[in-house]
Amino acid sequence: MVKNTMTPIEPREQWGTKFGFMLAAAGSAVGLGNIWRFPFVVGEGGGAAFVLLYLLFVLGIGLPLMIGEISIGRKGRANAMDSYKVISPKSKWYVNGLLGVIINFMILAFYSVIAGWAFYYFLLALTGQIISNDKDYGAAFSQFISHPFLPIITQILLMTIVALIVVGGVRKGIEKWNNILMPTLFILLIILVFRSVTLDGAKEGLHFFLNPDFSAITSTIVLAALGQAFFSLSIATGLYVTYGSYNQSQSSIPKNAAGVVFLDVVVAIMAGLIIFPAVFHYGIDPGRGPDLAFITFPTIFTDMPFGSIFAVFFFFFVFVAALTSAISLLEVPVAFAKEKFRISRKIATPITAMIITVLGIFCSLSFGPLSHIQIFDRTIFGLFDFVAAQVLLPISGLLLSIFLGWIWKPLGVKEEIERENNTFPFFKIWSFLIKYVIPIVIFIIFLEKIGLI
Ligand code: PHE
Repeated sequence: MVKNTMTPIEPREQWGTKFGFMLAAAGSAVGLGNIWRFPFVVGEGGGAAFVLLYLLFVLGIGLPLMIGEISIGRKGRANAMDSYKVISPKSKWYVNGLLGVIINFMILAFYSVIAGWAFYYFLLALTGQIISNDKDYGAAFSQFISHPFLPIITQILLMTIVALIVVGGVRKGIEKWNNILMPTLFILLIILVFRSVTLDGAKEGLHFFLNPDFSAITSTIVLAALGQAFFSLSIATGLYVTYGSYNQSQSSIPKNAAGVVFLDVVVAIMAGLIIFPAVFHYGIDPGRGPDLAFITFPTIFTDMPFGSIFAVFFFFFVFVAALTSAISLLEVPVAFAKEKFRISRKIATPITAMIITVLGIFCSLSFGPLSHIQIFDRTIFGLFDFVAAQVLLPISGLLLSIFLGWIWKPLGVKEEIERENNTFPFFKIWSFLIKYVIPIVIFIIFLEKIGLI
């Protein structure tokens, strides 16, 4: 066996408990992708047919890839790139790990903007300024995001918090935070689902969200659903390689992955069940785009008993969910920089965070002073989101499936998963999906999108 020959400057870290990995992975997956991005891409994609495609991709592509990605990390015991080198020392497959690091940079650049918005809304709620009966929430929100420096300040504050937690390291920083905050989000969402589905007109919203109209499916919608599945699960970014590399070998990878996927899907569906009934009840356009959640939620709270208290809790948890995902987005490049350039966490973290923040400022400004800059018909923010989620993530997923199915090979993955008496249920199905179905499906979706079929 080839050993990882790079000796990092600090000893490698490990999760403190068996649940550390699972919670941190769920913390990464559950985030703005579920509460902010999912509802607006479903709205733009026309509703239930999109949801169905998304679920299909989550189960058929996301889950199998996640199992493989965690295995790469646990076998390689190194960062997103070097783990590939440990498994396949003479090949160039480590490039896919490098691609993951680049994807994380791009995602965190625009993610930090939205997380900054969530942070700002939390502060508004806390100071009692979020709800008012005569407020036009759409106009107030546009005014905020187009402001030349306010959203940048919240973004920089947010990135500072993220960096401070990541400097704390795996156990004291990342694990501790996830353990406290993830479970409470759930309870709050359940209350809000209940509130929303009992509104007048909820039926129409539920119909939109749950009754598919297949005639509306286009190649654009298929690719968007695939991108959303990847984005929401944090798949193919090297995240699971990195977090998996801190794993204690006795935990069951398929069980952990299934748990993360389940939590992620449940939170997304709950967000949809909150947003769409309310959208129809209050006459909001479901296809209005990235501001959908930021307008719908305050509207719900305005009209709800104890609304201002719910608003505080809700935006706190959105902020926390965004924070745990942003932490994971920063951890991947930090772990890479730490081992690649043999620098300490204390140095790698602020440098990486600063570079990403600078990129992110351009994304933020594209809602205001730089909104006139259009590249391929998209704003800077739109371009970052599109390239990362709909181009690079599926490409990275395609490469990942080829690496797992044809280079490391299913039996190699099985051996890693079955260490210490663990089992790999559905191995045959997994292997078939990874070798044939996933690469072919992603490839066809791409050909279709660029108009070759
Ligand atoms: N999955 C996260 C979310 O849903 C975003 C994310 C993508 C995090 C990729 C890490 C890697 O909010």
